[in-house]
Amino acid sequence: MSDTTTHIKNITVVGTGYVGLVSGTCLADIGHMITCVDVDTEKVANLQAGKIPIFEPGLERLVKHNVEAGRLQFTTSLADALPNSDVVFIAVGTPSAADGRADLQYVYAVADEIGRNLDHYVVVVDKSTVPVGTATEVEARIRANYAGEFDVASCPEFLREGCAIDDFFAPDRIVIGVRNDKAGDILSDVFEPVKGEKLITTVESAELIKYASNAFLATKISFINEIAQICERSGADIEEVAYGIGLDHRIGPKFLKAGIGWGGSCFPKDVVALDQMAGDSGYDFKLLKGVIEVNQEQRMHFIQKVRDTFSGSVSGKKFGVLGLAFKDNTDDIRESAAIDIIQQLLNDGAEVVAFDYQAKENAEKVLDGSIEYATQPQDVAHGADAVLVVTEWPEFKHLDWKVMRETMNTPILFDGRNLLKPSTMQEQGFEYYSIGR
Ligand code: UGA
Repeated sequence: MSDTTTHIKNITVVGTGYVGLVSGTCLADIGHMITCVDVDTEKVANLQAGKIPIFEPGLERLVKHNVEAGRLQFTTSLADALPNSDVVFIAVGTPSAADGRADLQYVYAVADEIGRNLDHYVVVVDKSTVPVGTATEVEARIRANYAGEFDVASCPEFLREGCAIDDFFAPDRIVIGVRNDKAGDILSDVFEPVKGEKLITTVESAELIKYASNAFLATKISFINEIAQICERSGADIEEVAYGIGLDHRIGPKFLKAGIGWGGSCFPKDVVALDQMAGDSGYDFKLLKGVIEVNQEQRMHFIQKVRDTFSGSVSGKKFGVLGLAFKDNTDDIRESAAIDIIQQLLNDGAEVVAFDYQAKENAEKVLDGSIEYATQPQDVAHGADAVLVVTEWPEFKHLDWKVMRETMNTPILFDGRNLLKPSTMQEQGFEYYSIGR
């Protein structure tokens, strides 16, 4: 185990998805000795060879650097990693079960295995997003197999895909949910080199802070999307309205970008899980139900706008679609509005040519040969009846739209992310539609 006179700890991180791999790598970068564990032998072999399974800016370089420095290693065996560990982070997946609740089977399987293999004091930390009460169950499962001393804590992750490394090193806060000072001191030591407020809470508060944060951010977006609906009906401009309300410090400017709604691996899953959690505790979270409904409708409004422009039917029309990922700077297409919109267009009998800077490979797996892929963004315009911007890659702003327009069958542009300026696009000869303006 580590030298208690330094802040350096031996840490095991179980799960090498976005959360586990980014946290493990960044913890290595601040000096800790990290072993990342995953049951997927191929993934571990790839990581050992320096190949990372996801696109995340800066991550590959950071993995390589820390492996070379001897602070980061990968294994399939939790039993091998455990004897050396001061702290174990559980960062395995918590997918949605059929009823919307978080499926905790992978978290509990790790807890069972820790219990079976433990022989000394460790702090076991839930890093995955897990419902209130999970730490208590993790504790009970370890206790079922191990009679010695250990602690269970909750340190939820707040990183965003696409800027996860920056988020790790410059967090708004680090939440440390513990049952006693001993665990609190050890985890404060772990995060000591990272600037940002360290907030010590109860385990249950930490668990809820994560869900409440994501649900609040999703609420902000659904709220601004509803205001955008009023803008479309009243002549107001959502960009001006969002800027105007965001200047109020009590509201703030972030997460007020109107568009085709939120997606990804977190908001959709976490918002539904919080609603379920509230229901399970006997409380009907009415506001959250509205937040979810507004988000689903926002995509439908966009598709309807496209249909209406083509007199109600897009059958036989050809669409160039810019974006596949659920947002920019990621290859992730989970719950992506872009994919949903493409599937709707295909169901309506339309033809689609799409482009994304990173997400093509993942999109191919779900769209299964039903669309064509362009190798350059401007190529989606060739012969298109309309172009749709559905992911907010900033690069799309700087395309040569004038040249693209000349290659289109009809110069119609639907901007689902308000990336472009209406007056500029109209000057360039587009029939331009966006959100809330
Ligand atoms: C989100 C949270 O922002 C992170 O703090 C959290 O750690 C993470 O979930 C998680 O639980 O692991 P992420 O899903 O990576 O991060 O993406 P966001 O940047 O939050 O965007 C989510 C969705 O909202 C995207 O589809 C994006 O296009 C949309 N969005 C975001 C808007 O439509 N408008 C906005 O103003 C902001």
